[in-house]
Amino acid sequence: MNLEINGKTKLCGVMGDPVEHSVSPAMHNAGFRSLGLDYAYVPFHVRKGDLPAALQGVRALNIRGLNVTIPHKVAILPLLDEIDPLAKQIGAVNVLVNNSGRLSGYNTDAEGFLHVLSEQGIEPQKKNVVILGAGGAAMAICFALASRGESLTLLNRTHITASKCAADISSSTGRPAKALELTRANLASVLEGAGMLINATSVGMLPAADATPVDRDLLGPHLTVIDIVYNPHKSRLLEEAEQAGARTINGLEMLIWQGALAFEKWTGIQPPLNVMRKAATAALRRYEK
Ligand code: ATR
Repeated sequence: MNLEINGKTKLCGVMGDPVEHSVSPAMHNAGFRSLGLDYAYVPFHVRKGDLPAALQGVRALNIRGLNVTIPHKVAILPLLDEIDPLAKQIGAVNVLVNNSGRLSGYNTDAEGFLHVLSEQGIEPQKKNVVILGAGGAAMAICFALASRGESLTLLNRTHITASKCAADISSSTGRPAKALELTRANLASVLEGAGMLINATSVGMLPAADATPVDRDLLGPHLTVIDIVYNPHKSRLLEEAEQAGARTINGLEMLIWQGALAFEKWTGIQPPLNVMRKAATAALRRYEK
């Protein structure tokens, strides 16, 4: 269906820095169009220091909702009128909803990740789950996994951040969470007995696509490897994991699910997942060329 922007069109968007390679506009606009919804979605390039002004703008312009991305996911918390309890626990907001000037923050990364696991038929692991990173994305994934009863080991370049995250996760979920520095020796010792490895760092993302957080000889068929990186479509980590016989899942599905859950919050309507998936995949292919 071809909809024209008109006097009643509701506006949504993504706010971040950078945003020019986001596939979210293509994904959401395709979703709106396929259901004949009178909404439009645009990218907003908002720099770090401009966040408070941008939020005033959201209120003043009556923008319906936003995806919030790097570098605003954590900084936005004290600027909102209301924060969903899960987003507060995770310490990061990736979705904003504006109800007549009252701004509410949510985190759909965690729920999105759980959808990916169930869609792929990945049962709770009997073995340890290893997560690389300790930023907003890693925290959302850790909370999602802890809610399924998993035992976690976090490895991060900055050890102290991992320790803080692990302490937060175990105190609020009651699940064991260990923290280690991201080194080859630590990876070697934890990956041997693990069932799943998740890269929640930005290592391997374009333009530095030849980087990987894990040496290939530490990977094997005993692992399911998930990378939150989706550009390139198959990161070096996933390429090498596949060669080592591991099962692999890339970050595009998580991106699609967090977006679909955001779509539902703004419109109150069930998202057309397949339409959104097709549009996001096509947009990504265009960027990769
Ligand atoms: P997000 O909210 O998307 O998770 P973030 O909060 O900036 O983004 O977190 C990025 C994560 O990637 C962090 O865990 C970061 O490690 P540090 O805490 O040590 O900064 C990790 N990261 C980024 N670049 C990295 C690199 N070159 N090597 C290892 N880890 C890296």
